[in-house]
Amino acid sequence: MCGIFAYTGKKGKEAGGVLLDGLLSLEYRGYDSAGIFMPEAGVVRAPGAVAELRKKIPKDFKGKSGIAHLRWATHGEPTEQNAHPHSDGSGEIWVVHNGIIENFKELKKKLEVAGHEFKSATDTEVLAHLVEEHLKTEKSFEKAALAALNEVRGTYGIALQYKMEPDKIIAARMGSPIVLGLGDGEHFVASDPSPILPHTRKVVFLEDGDVAVISSDGHKIFKLDASNVHRATTDIDWSAEAAQKGGHEHFMIKEILEAPEVVVNTLRGRLIPEKGLAKLGGLESVAEQLEKIDRIIIVACGTAYYAGLVGEYMLEEYAGIPVEVELGSEFRYRKPVINERTIVLGISQSGETADTLEALREGKRHGALTLGIVNTVGSTIARETDAGVYNHAGPEIGVASTKAFVSQLVALALLTVFLGRQRGMSQSEGEKIAQELKSLPQKIQSILDRKGEIEELAKKYASVRDFLYIGRKYNLPIAYEGALKLKELSYIHAEGCGAGEMKHGPIAMIDEEFPTFAIVPKDSVYEKMLSNIQQIKARKGPVIALTTEGDTEVASVAGDVFFVPETSEMLSPILNAVPLHLFSYYFSKANGYNPDRPRNLAKSVTVE
Ligand code: F6R
Repeated sequence: MCGIFAYTGKKGKEAGGVLLDGLLSLEYRGYDSAGIFMPEAGVVRAPGAVAELRKKIPKDFKGKSGIAHLRWATHGEPTEQNAHPHSDGSGEIWVVHNGIIENFKELKKKLEVAGHEFKSATDTEVLAHLVEEHLKTEKSFEKAALAALNEVRGTYGIALQYKMEPDKIIAARMGSPIVLGLGDGEHFVASDPSPILPHTRKVVFLEDGDVAVISSDGHKIFKLDASNVHRATTDIDWSAEAAQKGGHEHFMIKEILEAPEVVVNTLRGRLIPEKGLAKLGGLESVAEQLEKIDRIIIVACGTAYYAGLVGEYMLEEYAGIPVEVELGSEFRYRKPVINERTIVLGISQSGETADTLEALREGKRHGALTLGIVNTVGSTIARETDAGVYNHAGPEIGVASTKAFVSQLVALALLTVFLGRQRGMSQSEGEKIAQELKSLPQKIQSILDRKGEIEELAKKYASVRDFLYIGRKYNLPIAYEGALKLKELSYIHAEGCGAGEMKHGPIAMIDEEFPTFAIVPKDSVYEKMLSNIQQIKARKGPVIALTTEGDTEVASVAGDVFFVPETSEMLSPILNAVPLHLFSYYFSKANGYNPDRPRNLAKSVTVE
């Protein structure tokens, strides 16, 4: 996710150096462009790494304060033009921003009518213009900033600076973290404490709706209604590395714990629950073509492929469109039967996976409309597909895909409502799915609150060298996903299997030493799953089961049970994925491995 760092001081430190060093310690968050503004020196922005930005900075770029940013594109390509900081028309007000301004289009229109001209494709730029507009009447930077913030909807962590008051920086938080650093004669604003820690360990975490003003001498905090508020100062004793992981031991657990927020971000602005509709801006340009398509081929690899398999169930059941799911590495060598009414849909977190990309190119060569569900804005798949849906899951740093998988499933559910409502899906069906989607973050949170139970289970089974995962229908791909995560992080044999397929071979493996993880929500295949568990029990195989809260039957047959909140069958994979991700994380840790760095694996697989 984007990173913010701002500094103001009177200790004679060179602000440019402080800011660039701060950006380096935020690099771990993932980004695609960087920029810095200092009132006494001007602005420099560059696509690519901080090293590129550093090369562009002139020798006389000096000052006592400034704001800096690492951008991870959400609106507009990762170009110099779209990199932060952004300014108003006069070039006096500058802003860096993390998050998404949901009403930026309407604000932009209003500002354009008032004569403002925009230079970038970002939602952020409207903030600077909005402050400029309010400055005309408010005559105070603080009041103008407050008035502007009261007009925006969406999420933000921001730092604002005004050329006329170079010692002052205004920061605000709504859904995107902001922390203040309190030094002696110098103050800081950042998205997490890591760039602040080399200077001071005294920090103040802002809460949603807080606005802070820092200067070299001090800080004050107030609410959006201008009332003063006090926030406690915290003494941080984490190392800089721990700060990057938000105080967690590994990126993987940090990212699993981000799942509720990720669902909110993937859904943001995309549901009209009262009409049972999904609004997918990235598909608007091809909406008419989508009404005519009669077949979808999903191409993806690994975890993204399993998301595609869940998507197959969703799209066939609710949108009534035949779907095939192909491994990217296989599809590219087939002679696919495709026409202009076929979509080839690529799913990819990185947007760079070579096999998925080549499969999409193959689809394009055969005349298919190509779509992407991609997390990384501006990635090759995002650029080469005709249209698509961004996940908005934020950068994923742990090698094993977790939060991106959750967001892929949510994006597929949105696509299902979108395509379904173009066809036979009723408004009330759309409403039901929308309501259920909206309730997921809180349900996922209740699973995460019980992560200790999963940790105990992982410790209990940590010495096991073989594991079977079984599921049916919507949760068969989740069995595959659970097994993949376990084997890639703990280097043991783990296998996902359709529960009905057991008797055709895999059941031969079962004995007292060979446990099975069964995914058994209370759904249309529940009874069948219970019989499959009985078959395993009859062969003395230990069983861990995931089932729906309130169930009593599964507990009577399985040795260990973890309860998952109730949801619709279609969305149950989203909830069931979370405990399986937690299990593989804790299992890996219990075996003494580093779950962030599984051997032989890379985060982005750009080779065949
Ligand atoms: C497994 C995992 C991989 C990726 C696969 C595709 O935990 O992360 O299987 O899902 O390499 O990567 P993307 O989604 O970047 O195309």
